[in-house]
Amino acid sequence: MTLSESRMQYPVPAAIEHPDLVTYRSEFPILQRKTYMNSCSLGALSNRSMQNMEQFMEMWNEWGAHAWYEIWMGEIAKARQKFATIIGADPGEVAIAPNVSTALSSIASALDYSERNNVVLADMDFPTLAYLFESTVDDRTALVATSRVFFTSGYIQDIRKIADMAHKCGAYILVDDYQGTGQIPLNVDAQDIDILVTGSLKWLMGGPGLAFVYIREGLIPSLEPTIAGWFGHRDQFQFKTREFEFRPDAARIEMGTPATAAVYAANGGLDIVQEISVERICERTRYLTNDLIARAREHGWGVRAPLEPEQRSSIVMLELERPEEIVKELVGRNIITDSRPGLLRISPYFYNTIEENAVVIDAIAEILENREKGS
Ligand SMILES: Cc1ncc(COP(=O)(O)O)c(C=O)c1O
Repeated sequence: MTLSESRMQYPVPAAIEHPDLVTYRSEFPILQRKTYMNSCSLGALSNRSMQNMEQFMEMWNEWGAHAWYEIWMGEIAKARQKFATIIGADPGEVAIAPNVSTALSSIASALDYSERNNVVLADMDFPTLAYLFESTVDDRTALVATSRVFFTSGYIQDIRKIADMAHKCGAYILVDDYQGTGQIPLNVDAQDIDILVTGSLKWLMGGPGLAFVYIREGLIPSLEPTIAGWFGHRDQFQFKTREFEFRPDAARIEMGTPATAAVYAANGGLDIVQEISVERICERTRYLTNDLIARAREHGWGVRAPLEPEQRSSIVMLELERPEEIVKELVGRNIITDSRPGLLRISPYFYNTIEENAVVIDAIAEILENREKGS
């Protein structure tokens, strides 16, 4: 396979059951305890991630600081490599960060605003069509920053269109892909993305403490953040105190010692995503999401989701009154969902089942019925 073939844009996946993926349920202890439907907030913890974290502690006990050179730096490199494969990038184009907020601050400090002093951001509440950007992006725009998947509606944006429009004006595009990576296929080259930030917490099932930054190869040499640290130094272990020279790869934006336990946990989740493939994950979550939406509509509830199935992700918003009270009652029934003002949020993942969809929807219907009786 040539590089250009391996970086081709993915077709939109269909909704497919993939019943074999149900075997993964035994990897995730929480699924035996709860009906867990909040993966867009925190992906379930796998046995693999737990074993990895145990291994990290064992290495700490066995080798102490010696583990850094021999083992832990290698584990960090593995995380970059696995993530790069998932998004169709080169490991040299990937940096790690403690969280997305820190990564964004670092990137923001690295851009040149002398000629272009505008950054255009999307309104995250509604699908922001490319033409809305078009009216605000011009030759003073340094950066267009937006999300691929909106956390408020699960809407998937056409990133390529926005990238083309930004590039036409000479601006860069930065994508916050926290709600997309792992659940919706992505190829950064096919989408012509300049910078992408995401993390391990949600659909990558790696828990908190690790974010990833992709920087397009050609852009790396020009990015010199004003906040920097020894992990971004070209000769990290030379301990040069008088001069700072950035690494030639994307890891130049890395700062200090990373949370190594988080890296170990993240590698467990990344392995599972790679093993199944994002395409198959997406096909199964589409199958589950279509069923969930159909069940909700049968009850006559408002569903905030894109009309076109191909623009839907695995975030389903139900328009229900006082959703936070429903979420609380659901917790009492061992069902984990979430709420945003005026909306109850359900986010199934490949490890959920149609039966669990029924459990959640039936429980909500009962809670609403009781509410009506009580009022
Ligand atoms: C789209 C999106 N971006 C960024 C964040 C926050 O990232 P961090 O806490 O790593 O800064 C979240 C959620 O936590 C998110 O959903």
